[in-house]
Parts: sequence; C-alpha cells; structure tokens
Amino acid sequence: MAHDYLFSEKRDQIRDFDFGKDTAVVFDDMLDRSVPFYSEVQRMIGEIASDYAVDGTQLYDLGCSTCNAFVKLDPILPPNVRFVGIDFSNEMLDRAREKINQHGIKRDYQLICADLNEDIEITNASVVIINLTLQFIRPVRRHRVISNIARGMTPGSCLLVVEKVLSKDPKINRSFIKYYYDFKQRNGYSQLEIAQKREALENVLIPYRLEEDFELFLSSGFSFCDLFFKWYNFCGMIAIK
Ligand SMILES: C[S@@+](CC[C@H](N)C(=O)[O-])C[C@H]1O[C@@H](n2cnc3c(N)ncnc32)[C@H](O)[C@@H]1O
Repeated sequence: MAHDYLFSEKRDQIRDFDFGKDTAVVFDDMLDRSVPFYSEVQRMIGEIASDYAVDGTQLYDLGCSTCNAFVKLDPILPPNVRFVGIDFSNEMLDRAREKINQHGIKRDYQLICADLNEDIEITNASVVIINLTLQFIRPVRRHRVISNIARGMTPGSCLLVVEKVLSKDPKINRSFIKYYYDFKQRNGYSQLEIAQKREALENVLIPYRLEEDFELFLSSGFSFCDLFFKWYNFCGMIAIK
C-alpha cells in the first residue's frame, strides 16, 4: 500500500482537494490513517447490510472509491445481490477494478463513473451506502440527491451514511476537531500535513450537524433514522425507507 505523503511538503499555494490520480494512489493508506475506526465501520456496514440485502435486488455504494466495501461485503451477502459502485473519479474506479479482480469477486457488479450532484439512476435497491461522500455533495443538491435515492429503494430497505458532523456547541466542536487532529498525529501525520489538508478541504467538504442530516433523511422519503456509530465528529447513520 503506497504511503500517503500528499501534503508532507510545504506548498506555496493550497489548491482544493481532489480525488484524482495522486490521491487514488495513496488512498487506502489515507483512509487507514485518517478515518477513525475505518475498518470497524466497514465491518459494521457489512453486518447491517447482510440483514437488509435481499436476493434479486441491488446494493449501491455511492462514492465507492477503491471498493473496499465490496471486498468486505462479497463473502457475506447473498449471491444474487448485484453490486453497483458509483464514483466520479476514474482513477479511483481503476483501482477498484484491480481490487475486485485481485479478490476474485464473481458476482454481477457494475462500476459507473458519474457525478452524484447530477440525477443518477437508482433502481431496486435494498441497501445504499454513502460512506464519507455526502459531505462532498453540494448542500443545495443534497435534498434532491437523497430523495432520488429514496425513490429507487425498496420498502423496508436501508441507507447507511457515514459523515463528519458539526456540533451545535462551538466549544465542543473545537474540542472534537482537536481530538481528531491528535488522532491523525498519532497515526504519523505532521502538523504541516494536517494543516495543509485542512485548508485543501475547506471549500470542498461541507459537514452538516447531525440533526440536519436526520432532517434531510426524514424529509426525503425515509421513515426512521438512527445512529449506529459515533466517534467525536464522525458518525454512522442508518435510515429506513
Ligand atoms: C472519502 S471518499 C469515500 C470513501 C469510500 N466510500 C470508502 O468507504 O472507502 C469520497 C469518494 O467520493 C467520491 N466523490 C466525491 N464527490 C463526488 C461526486 N460529486 N460524485 C461522485 N463521486 C464523488 C470521490 O471521488 C471519492 O472516491
């Protein structure tokens, strides 16, 4: 796995973060070292998805990146659940294809390069996963995007969303962000790397408050939502159609 040195050199100008080739090459290491409990949350997603995925339906991973979810899910889901991964980065999808081949995944699957800000086709879905990706969708588009997803889901199906969230309280907010940066330092990122990446993400990653995300789901066609994971400013949410 290539080590993530993306922000280790001092940059004169910080450009907006993107998911192109440079990021795709180091992405798995970036996830491991900068997402708290990444592997455990993937395991939990698998556990929940295996209770909701129905043979003959589709499971979507929106913002699938290198398809870690499919690798985890393939051994535990019924064989006739079709996987659909969508991402707007061709470089991520190239790595996803390599990974799927390496793991010998035999089930029917499709990888689609598309921008989730646009209307995408979701049909016959018993599970939809959006892991750390809704936060990159433009806020003005989020209601339309989630409503469109809900319309393509079967009754009783589940949406699993992992996001960074903000607290209502500014002091708690600052503390949670500090604990998160401490976590990144413990995982080998320097203060310079942390500061430069924060700046690069500033206009690109727009988190909501937890209540805003719940309100978004409940007003978009879901009947119930709850938390399945929370670590400071990271959370995993489940919404039932
Ligand atoms: C933080 S990564 C997601 C990690 C991944 N879900 C996982 O579990 O490993 C965000 C992904 O969403 C994709 N993405 C961001 N904005 C997008 C958009 N508007 N349309 C499609 N994909 C998008 C990026 O290319 C990237 O692969």
